[in-house]
Amino acid sequence: MPRTVRDVVFVDGVRTPFGKAGPKGIYHETRADDLVVKAIRELLRRNPGLDPKKIDEVAVAATTQIGDQGLTIGRTAGILAGLPTSVPGYSIDRMCAGALTAVTTVAGSVAFGAYDVAIAGGVEHMGRHPMGEGVDPNPRFVSEKLVAESALFMGMTAENLHDRYPSITKQRADEYAVRSQEKAAKAYANGKIQADLVPVSVRRTNEEAGETGWGLVTADEPMRPGTTLENLANLKTPFRVHGRVTAGNAAGLNDGATASLIASEDFARENNLPVKMRLVSYSFAGVEPEVMGYGPIPATEKALAQAGLSISDIGLFEINEAFAVQVLAFLEHYGIADDDARVNQYGGAIAFGHPLASSGVRLMTQLARQFEEQPEVRYGLTTMCVGFGMGATVIWENPHFEGDK
Ligand SMILES: CC(C)(COP(=O)(O)OP(=O)(O)OC[C@H]1O[C@@H](n2cnc3c(N)ncnc32)[C@H](O)[C@@H]1OP(=O)(O)O)[C@@H](O)C(=O)NCCC(=O)NCCS
Repeated sequence: MPRTVRDVVFVDGVRTPFGKAGPKGIYHETRADDLVVKAIRELLRRNPGLDPKKIDEVAVAATTQIGDQGLTIGRTAGILAGLPTSVPGYSIDRMCAGALTAVTTVAGSVAFGAYDVAIAGGVEHMGRHPMGEGVDPNPRFVSEKLVAESALFMGMTAENLHDRYPSITKQRADEYAVRSQEKAAKAYANGKIQADLVPVSVRRTNEEAGETGWGLVTADEPMRPGTTLENLANLKTPFRVHGRVTAGNAAGLNDGATASLIASEDFARENNLPVKMRLVSYSFAGVEPEVMGYGPIPATEKALAQAGLSISDIGLFEINEAFAVQVLAFLEHYGIADDDARVNQYGGAIAFGHPLASSGVRLMTQLARQFEEQPEVRYGLTTMCVGFGMGATVIWENPHFEGDK
C-alpha cells in the first residue's frame, strides 16, 4: 500500500519550573517520575479536545535511566499520569538532546502514519542522578586514543572549544551570559515564561527539623537576575586552571521535566487542537567528542540542506546554552552577532537551567511563543549540542506566518 508522508505539528509544550540540583534544591524531595507526571497532566488539562485514549505513544527521555528515571519511564509515567493502560510508552536517551530526540522520533512515526498523536518530553533530576552516575566507559576509549580523556567531561570540552575559537574570549562568554540573564528576567517580567510552566507542590525538609512543610514551585530556581560582568569576572574556572568556563557562563546542574504534544496536522485540526509549529526538517550530526559544543553547526547544515533553506531564512533561533562558548561558536560560524535579536529572545539555559534530557522541549515551547508573537517570521530553529560529540537541530515553520498574505 503506498504511503504518504504527513505534515507533523507541535501542538503544545509545557514544563515544570527548573530547580537547582542538590540537597538545597526545590525538588530534593520530589521524584523524577512525579515531575514528568505533572507535565503530562498539564498537557491534558490545557488540551481538553484531546481524548487521552487516542494518544498513540508516550516517549520520555532521560540520560540516567535508573531508579525513578528508569523502568521505561515513558510507560510508567503514562500510567502514573492516569492515561488509559492502552496507551503505550518508551524511554529515549540522547543525553542533552533526549527530549528533542523524543519529539523527532514520534514525529517520524506520525509522518509515516503509525501514530496520529503522541506525547514527547524528557526529565533529568541531576540531584538524584548526578551526571555520570553509574557510567562505565570502555577503557578502549582512552587506551586506544579513540577520544581524549577531556571528551568525557562536558566542561572540559567547552574549554577545548575556546581553544579552537581563540576569538571567543572569556569576556565575550561572560557578556553573553549577562545578556542571557537579562533577557530571561525580562521575559519573566513580561509573563512570557510562566504561561508554559506547571506549578509543582514540593515537600520541604532540613537536617535539623525534618519536614518543614509544603510549598508550591512556580518559577525557575537557578535564575540570577542582576548578574553583572563584575560578578562573573573572578569566578573559579573549575574545568581548567586559568580557563574560561565558569559557573556563570555555563548552565548549571538542574532538575526538571518537559512534555509536548506532537500530532499530524490533520489530527490536530479535526480535534480542535492548536497548531503552534509545523515541522520542516530535523537532523543529527557527530563531531569530535572533545569539542562536542561544535555539534549544532553540522547538524544545522544538514537540516537546512534537507529543507532547501539557508541560514538567512531563519528568523528565530533557540540555541541551548550548555555553555556560552558553544552558542558563540555557532553564531561566529554563521556570521551572526553575539547579541543578535533573533537569538534566544527569552534568554537561555545559562539563566533557566539545563536538566539535560528535558531541555529540548523547553526550546520548542519558547520558540512556539515567539512564533505566535511574530507572524512576520516564517522559519525558526531549535538546536543543541550533545555529549560525546553530537549536535541536534530541528527547523520549524510558523503557522501564524503572514508574509504571503
Ligand atoms: C560549572 C559548574 C561545575 C559549577 O558548579 P557549582 O560550583 O556547584 O556552581 P554554583 O552554583 O555553586 O556556583 C559556583 C560559584 O559561582 C557563583 N555564581 C554562579 N553564577 C553566578 C552569577 N551569575 N553571578 C554571580 N555569581 C555566580 C556562585 O554563587 C558560587 O559562588 P560560591 O562558590 O561563592 O558559593 C556546574 O554548574 C557544571 O558542571 N555545569 C555544566 C553542566 C553540564 O556540563 N551540563 C551538560 C552540558 S553538555
